[in-house]
Amino acid sequence: MKTIMLVFGTRSEAVKMCPLVKELKSRGGIKTVVCVTGQHRQMLDRVLAAFSVRPDYDLSVMKTDQTLFDITATVMDRIRPVLEQVRPDAVLVQGDTSTTFAAALACFYMRIPVGHVEAGLRTYDIDAPYPEEFNRQAVSILSHFHFAPTELAKENLLREGRRAETIYVTGNTVIDALRTTVRADYTHPELEWAAGSRLVLVTAHRRESLGEPMARMFRAVRRVVDEHPDVKAVCPIHMNPAARETAAAVLSGHGRIHLTEPLDVPDFHNFMARSYLILTDSGGVQEEAPTLGKPVLVMRSATERPEGIAAGTLRLVGTDEETIRREFTRLLDDKTAYDAMARAVNPYGDGHACRRIADALEKVLG
Ligand code: UD1
Ligand code: UDP
Repeated sequence: MKTIMLVFGTRSEAVKMCPLVKELKSRGGIKTVVCVTGQHRQMLDRVLAAFSVRPDYDLSVMKTDQTLFDITATVMDRIRPVLEQVRPDAVLVQGDTSTTFAAALACFYMRIPVGHVEAGLRTYDIDAPYPEEFNRQAVSILSHFHFAPTELAKENLLREGRRAETIYVTGNTVIDALRTTVRADYTHPELEWAAGSRLVLVTAHRRESLGEPMARMFRAVRRVVDEHPDVKAVCPIHMNPAARETAAAVLSGHGRIHLTEPLDVPDFHNFMARSYLILTDSGGVQEEAPTLGKPVLVMRSATERPEGIAAGTLRLVGTDEETIRREFTRLLDDKTAYDAMARAVNPYGDGHACRRIADALEKVLG
């Protein structure tokens, strides 16, 4: 019996790892151990509850206004005894957070093989997104198995010298999650509030966006909603106190803009499915929206998800207030431009990524 440990800590990692936990647990020859770092306390717990995943270990690292030092050092410190006790045959990490980097580094120090889920995403700009571009490049260097969501991600890894036989193109596990959450009969008080209007969904949380860039994004949103009486916006605000402060300062007190707590994942997926368009700096949302055929204005300077841009559903608009305002207005006022973006495409896989990852692990671990 081989032991595989999955380590994750934030909302986005949890959405993408919970379906994999379930798939691995369904395999006879594998013992699956779940270790959460708790980098996100409340938001992680909500995802675990939504997918009925109970962790075996919880490092409880989160603190308010945590720094990159706090997360990286605390995860390194607290994961060591867990790895010593479990002695896994392989550890799976996901994506590009500080949890991902610190857990992978701890495994490297202990010579435990690492499998990287969602490997090979790149902007090649070390400052955008920050610190994620560094994290994912660093994890690629030390990983034994690379689970790339797309052919493009595989090409990045090959170009960087990773060996072809260690790379598996699987699709993104977020699509596996999405297939289980969206329902035709879904209802919610916020959707009832927005009924009869065009619903716009807005999220922002990136570290490099905090402060003035985020204020510019929200100011642009407010101005455009102001100018369009048939538009209502729902903005589920990330729990980062800095993001909350800016959202409250810029977006509150508008009759057609609702600031809400973060939505549970099944709710958020159904809100996306019902929305007219989405503005975000999120990574995961850029993968989910094309599958649902929803146009996304990506409020960032660079994206590691060019597949969605090529497919036409994502448009990179940066963080300049006038540019966001112009592009947002165009999508609302120009039906042809809107229709060109609102096409369901499938660049991130068919929803069977977890099965492919589990198959590959069974093969390589024997
Ligand atoms: C982190 C990841 C980012 C990922 C995002 C997913 C790093 C450096 N950043 O960014 O890559 O895109 O998660 O959402 O790994 N907080 C709570 N409760 C929670 C979650 C957060 O109170 O459940 C507050 C805390 O005050 C915390 C702050 O939010 O200090 C920031 O959280 P942190 O994980 O450091 O950064 P994120 O912006 O969430
Ligand atoms: N999400 C959610 N509730 C929200 C906003 C987002 O459940 O209020 C989900 C979203 O569907 C996606 C994930 O959170 O699966 C993305 O997380 P986030 O934007 O925090 O991080 P990133 O993907 O940028 O790392």
